[in-house]
Amino acid sequence: MALFSLREYPLAGKIVLLRVDFNVPLENGNVADNNRIKATLPTIHHLVEQGCTVILLTHLGKPGGKVVSSLRLDPVATELQQLLPDSQIIKLNDCIGKDIQDRIKKKKPPEIFLLENLRFYAQEEQNNPIFAHALASLAEMYVNDAFAVSHRQHASVDTITRFLPAFAGLLMEKEITYLSKALHPERPSIWLMGGAKLDKVDLLQQALRKADNVLIGGALAFPFLKAQGIPVGLSKCSSQSVEIVQKLLQHHPKKIILPVDFVVAESFSSRASAQVVTYNRIQHQQIALDLGPETIKLFKRYLRKGQTIVWNGPLGYFEWVKFSQATKEIGRFIGSLTATSIVGGGETAEAMRKFHLDHTFTHLSTGGGAALEFLAGKTLPGIAALERSYKKFRKIYR
Ligand code: 3PG
Repeated sequence: MALFSLREYPLAGKIVLLRVDFNVPLENGNVADNNRIKATLPTIHHLVEQGCTVILLTHLGKPGGKVVSSLRLDPVATELQQLLPDSQIIKLNDCIGKDIQDRIKKKKPPEIFLLENLRFYAQEEQNNPIFAHALASLAEMYVNDAFAVSHRQHASVDTITRFLPAFAGLLMEKEITYLSKALHPERPSIWLMGGAKLDKVDLLQQALRKADNVLIGGALAFPFLKAQGIPVGLSKCSSQSVEIVQKLLQHHPKKIILPVDFVVAESFSSRASAQVVTYNRIQHQQIALDLGPETIKLFKRYLRKGQTIVWNGPLGYFEWVKFSQATKEIGRFIGSLTATSIVGGGETAEAMRKFHLDHTFTHLSTGGGAALEFLAGKTLPGIAALERSYKKFRKIYR
């Protein structure tokens, strides 16, 4: 994959539009989780050190093309200011237009500009070229460090690269480097798949192509049981997913490793009493909320052999202590291995942070949907746009 790298080009004094993904959770008007913001700091520092004027672009939530006060970026600006005490964060109340242009022209170091939520304009999600051009006219070059939104064909991710030389930011490079290791793994390669969403067929098929073994946990396990006629009680399972996994089981009977026991409850409640049962003993009034101790042991036996481990989706309902054991213990175990360990998908990363295990993994992707699409082998529009820009502008920049 040929992209412009920030490290290879003289940037001195340039005005740079830096697309980031600061789509972070807010609570009581404050940023509740700043990991996505922190992940972009190396790129911001790099640009500031080169004397660049940095103009940050991001979306937040789904305002649907109109101004929504609760989705203004002021809390993000406050958080960023705390993370960058040597800079002055100037939050602007719009992202295009003459006032914005004029303010940027009056820039003075150590100012860093944060433009208002891009999705206040419907044209952002419509990939509108006029809107993209209006953004592009604010700067001399564009950097995409927003891996997490690069699966969206939006104006600030895609069309903007038609107007400016477009570079991959340091976070973008890191995401591509590590997630690519999942697709071109050192073997044995073990994929661990869980989570509550059952719409991961593409990813499952990819796992079966790339991995030596695919370990199944979370709600993803239930269609696999049902496909073999094993009752799953009240555990979540659609008939469509049963049909799909039936075919996968037929084609890959040895590769797919299923749970041998579960922790079940009589109701979906954090206070429900929990009990361990073997996989074929889930009663009709029970709901399985975690993997049992024998499954944890079984999964460890496979994981121990892995040179590359890819994990998507928690193994149980980790939000409740009683049902968090498998996710926590397997997380701790993977962290203790020397294998390259890659976490793709927001929820698993969130679980590893909750258990203070994030630093024990080789890479935790900042992407949710983007990481899943990348791992499934799809071309992300944001990355394709960087490749096109490289081809178009490389002669000028060489
Ligand atoms: C994310 O949080 O996954 C990205 O920011 C994309 O957000 P979206 O699903 O609202 O497009």
